[in-house]
Amino acid sequence: MIGKDILFFNSLTSTNEYVKKHLDELDAGTIVTAKQQISGKGRRGRTWISNQGNLFFSLLLEKDYESNFSYVMRASTVLVRSLAEFGLDAKIKYPNDIMVRGRKIAGILIEAKADHIIIGVGVNVKEEKFETLEKKATSIKIETGHIFDPLDILYAFVKSCNEKLDDTEEQLYQKYLIHSYVIGKEINYKGQKATITKITRKGLLQISFDDTFRLVSMDDITLEELYYD
Ligand code: BTN
Repeated sequence: MIGKDILFFNSLTSTNEYVKKHLDELDAGTIVTAKQQISGKGRRGRTWISNQGNLFFSLLLEKDYESNFSYVMRASTVLVRSLAEFGLDAKIKYPNDIMVRGRKIAGILIEAKADHIIIGVGVNVKEEKFETLEKKATSIKIETGHIFDPLDILYAFVKSCNEKLDDTEEQLYQKYLIHSYVIGKEINYKGQKATITKITRKGLLQISFDDTFRLVSMDDITLEELYYD
């Protein structure tokens, strides 16, 4: 069960960093959330802008699933399900960006430390405008017209996650595919036109060219071009 203990902070450098620093004092399943983060971290060393009114949390888990991709699938499918409760039809842009109308509404940063996994989630809740990212980012406010309490989204995540804790790897995989935003999309891979044809059970992306295909890992591809234009 997750979310039995939830630690609330007004401000933290980063909820992921807090969990990593206090790993020994926290039980598995604990969630740490902050109203704002001073240096929110995104994937690939990016910054995650963390203004008040949005949701930032990290979930601590013991490392016990079969593959790292399990965590990616679990976190992203649970997030999609949680956002549906707020009227949003979200999709997963490989590996774990959460998209609505082709724009990113939430991001997940999964880190490992010792025998633990830290799943950090950021959801754009109340932002009304994304200056330079207008075509790339969105928020629940922009999509629904309503401002929600970020904690209501967190509680939906906890509920949904606990309901789905027993999902098998295969069930997770099927749900992940159903909600995929990338399968069938055309991309330009190193100057060549290609189509994304599959995501394997191990979490590799299959991209097909005219007469061949190639498997790439989530560290090797960014899919930057797959935003609504
Ligand atoms: C991404 O899409 O690049 C991942 C963004 C993850 C942001 C969340 S906010 C809570 C947690 N703490 C952090 O510093 N980052 C994650």
